[in-house]
Amino acid sequence: MSKTLLVFHSYTGNTKVIAEKIKELIDCDMIELEPIVPFSKDYQQVVDEYQNNSIKEEVKIKKVDVDLNDYNKIIVGSPVWWYTITPVITTFLKENDLSGKTIYPFATNAGWLGHSFQDIKKLCPNSNVENGLNVVFSDYENHRIRTDENEIKNWIKNI
Ligand SMILES: Cc1cc2nc3c(=O)[nH]c(=O)nc-3n(C[C@H](O)[C@H](O)[C@H](O)COP(=O)(O)O)c2cc1C
Repeated sequence: MSKTLLVFHSYTGNTKVIAEKIKELIDCDMIELEPIVPFSKDYQQVVDEYQNNSIKEEVKIKKVDVDLNDYNKIIVGSPVWWYTITPVITTFLKENDLSGKTIYPFATNAGWLGHSFQDIKKLCPNSNVENGLNVVFSDYENHRIRTDENEIKNWIKNI
């Protein structure tokens, strides 16, 4: 049976808001990816620590309790850290073979998406990576979305 899995990482909650919106609109299983060692609660420290190397930085993540063979569509949601996906998402994509599956990527950010979607394509050369959804937030504390609601809904409808 073909099923859809939504995996996401969220440090300050924006990406989780979008993940929950998707989950409300389509039938899918959802998993929040988490680092084994939590990131610092000091936002500025995390910003400084991951500057320019989030794609290289190895971050170990908690085991995910699903059989990926059950899914042919994988929705992957990441915050943008220094113009790319977070190291949590990088580790997930390196550790799991998504060959032959269709990936629907979305990224939340403050306006600088960078090369996030290209990096997902590089990490998943044998997957069909669909056009990504870029969701811009005004800030990370109040979860205010700047991207047009219809753009988000239309992207979700195409999954
Ligand atoms: C370490 C770090 C690096 C960031 N780098 C970028 C960036 O390159 N471009 C951008 O637009 N926003 C950047 N941001 C802002 C986040 O991408 C944005 O607030 C995102 O929606 C947070 O998602 P979350 O609340 O799910 O963690 C960065 C935030 C952090 C913590």
